[in-house]
Amino acid sequence: MFRIRKKRVLTPVTVLFEVEAPLVCRHARPGQFVIVRLGEKSERIPLTIMDAGRDGVLSIVIQAVGKSTRELIALGDGDALADVVGPLGQPCPLREGGTVAVVGGGFGVAPIIPIARALHERDVQVIAINGARTAELLILEEELQAVSDRYLVSTNDGSRGMQGMVTDVLQTLISRGEHLDEVIAIGPMVMMRAVAEVTRPHGIRTLVSLDPIMVDGTGMCGVCRVSVGGQTRFACVDGPIFDAHQVDFDLAVRRGHMYDAEQKLALEHYEKCSCHGGGEA
Ligand SMILES: Cc1cc2nc3c(=O)[nH]c(=O)nc-3n(C[C@H](O)[C@H](O)[C@H](O)COP(=O)(O)OP(=O)(O)OC[C@H]3O[C@@H](n4cnc5c(N)ncnc54)[C@H](O)[C@@H]3O)c2cc1C
Ligand code: FES
Repeated sequence: MFRIRKKRVLTPVTVLFEVEAPLVCRHARPGQFVIVRLGEKSERIPLTIMDAGRDGVLSIVIQAVGKSTRELIALGDGDALADVVGPLGQPCPLREGGTVAVVGGGFGVAPIIPIARALHERDVQVIAINGARTAELLILEEELQAVSDRYLVSTNDGSRGMQGMVTDVLQTLISRGEHLDEVIAIGPMVMMRAVAEVTRPHGIRTLVSLDPIMVDGTGMCGVCRVSVGGQTRFACVDGPIFDAHQVDFDLAVRRGHMYDAEQKLALEHYEKCSCHGGGEA
């Protein structure tokens, strides 16, 4: 069992868990992920690693989406997860020197932090862009600011930072003639796709972390397949980080909606049922 040492509520739908997972922490690198299960019969939930401390405490950020993530964020200090498997996937390729804009949206701000920190340590000038719909939904501002040279914020409603999307901030930077060697974006699929379209005409290398549906996370089931540069790749073993300009986002979005009806049913059942907590997926 993997004990939750500390729970921090970041927004009404997002929590940060510090989980005791020393073996995972020993090997984890920026960009990798874990698969967690609440109970032995629960759904497997892939979550990107936010921090893997030397003290063996793993930080993960979970956003409530459907039944299983809601069950998870209902846990508290001292509760335990049945499984934390990882680290999985390939680490993020990290350049030396130059300027990189890291762009985080939603839970994507969490995995951007270790990447920004590692770049910062390699003499890269890090420009961080944190975006949310409204100021209350912005997460981990202090943590991201601490590992960046410049920190910029956008909210859709203008309640904090620049009014608009993270892509508007990125476009403004580029239009002002700011030199960017690379952009790394993690967030909702629509956001990553939009970032790719902003950087494409300027030929700025852009990396995104895809989050397709996953089952085994070991390259055996084929469920996480994505098309990158016209080739089929498995996000769990070949990714999750890929060259954004090579990703077939149309296909990725379509595959992400494959189980919408089943997921809606599971959530409806979970919300109606009074027997919440660690049940079957
Ligand atoms: C590599 C990777 C890293 C991720 N990192 C994070 C993270 O750090 N924090 C976070 O909050 N979320 C992360 N996610 C997304 C998270 O795994 C899904 O939101 C979660 O599985 C949804 O489960 P659900 O049952 O609550 O929602 P459901 O209602 O069942 O599903 C809602 C949406 O989640 C997607 N989804 C459902 N099951 C899976 C699955 N097994 N794998 C992937 N997507 C699924 C579906 O495409 C669907 O659109 C990551 C996903 C991947 C693949
Ligand atoms: S999740 Fe099964 S092959 Fe990637």
